Amino acid sequence: MANPNVVVVGATGAVGRVFLRILEQRHFPVNRLRLCASPRSIGKRIKVNGDELPLEATTPEIFDDADFAFISASTAVSRELVPVAAQRGAFVIDDSSAYRMDPKVPLVVPEINPEDLEWHRNISAIPNCSTTQMVMALYPLHKANPIKRIIVDTYQAVSGTGTLAMEELREQSRSLLDGGAPKVAVYPHRIAFNVMPHIEPFMEDGYTREEQKMLYETRKIMHAPDIAVSATCVRVPVYLSHSEAVHVEFTEPMEPEEARDLMAAFPGVIVVDDPKKNQYPLAIDAADKDEVFVGRIRKDSSCANGIAMWVVSDNLRKGAATNAIQIAEEVVKRELLRPRG
Ligand code: A2P
Repeated sequence: MANPNVVVVGATGAVGRVFLRILEQRHFPVNRLRLCASPRSIGKRIKVNGDELPLEATTPEIFDDADFAFISASTAVSRELVPVAAQRGAFVIDDSSAYRMDPKVPLVVPEINPEDLEWHRNISAIPNCSTTQMVMALYPLHKANPIKRIIVDTYQAVSGTGTLAMEELREQSRSLLDGGAPKVAVYPHRIAFNVMPHIEPFMEDGYTREEQKMLYETRKIMHAPDIAVSATCVRVPVYLSHSEAVHVEFTEPMEPEEARDLMAAFPGVIVVDDPKKNQYPLAIDAADKDEVFVGRIRKDSSCANGIAMWVVSDNLRKGAATNAIQIAEEVVKRELLRPRG
């Protein structure tokens, strides 16, 4: 097929900017690239691959000659634009939570369930960043020894919230170090020099929506409707990369050595696990990389069939933009683009 036309909605955002960089890095073949942002950015220009491209309004017509639409703006924007873009013939890859649990929409991590793209109706969702890195580490183990239960505590970077949160961490840190009184706007509390066990709204059962995503998305991606997941999602004053302490209970006993080998053999996962030499995954090392890093792999001393581990990944890359481009690559490879018109 001819090189696809691509529309990026949210091109100025934390994920959108990384997405444009990865398009270049992976040499994803693009015929025409069009960039959209909010009305306040219309008319500004962004440099991509040496070209200065204008930011355009997200009119329905912009999707008319698009083969792929990548949308990463807000859940409200996705709710409105995803059906419009899909109906006009673009294959939509959506970064929001709006359609992830829709039974008509595949939720895909290409290393795990690429075959789900086969039943697409012009839309694929990408999972929440904290879910993606966890299932990347756990899926190879689950295939060998089905997982019954996961307890996960996350340490999530502010870039997951977006550009404003990154600016807020910078401003608050500067203000505190200067002895000032930092302004609090994006989060309910100060994030600089703080740790906040609150990501997204609290639900009836006491978990947050982010924590519920880790349960429902894990089940959908891994085709494992019985897995139990208890998550505590925590925002930490880190710019890039989410870290997770993961405790897993398997059906049968699992040796740490076996877990290490299975994860090391899985594409996109790198085991960094030599604690005596101070070697374990770190947020600063994972930043700007596409892989998921796993270490501190050990027997869970509280559970007969349990393994504990530490999982780190760049939330804007594999957690969002890289996964999205991998989906587009898979759609092209499987020749799943519907003929236009
Ligand atoms: P803008 O930069 O013009 O506000 P982040 O996640 O970093 O906060 O980025 C959100 C992205 O979504 C930005 O690119 C933002 O554009 C874009 N955006 C926000 N509202 C809309 C909208 N109504 N239509 C298209 N893009 C939008």
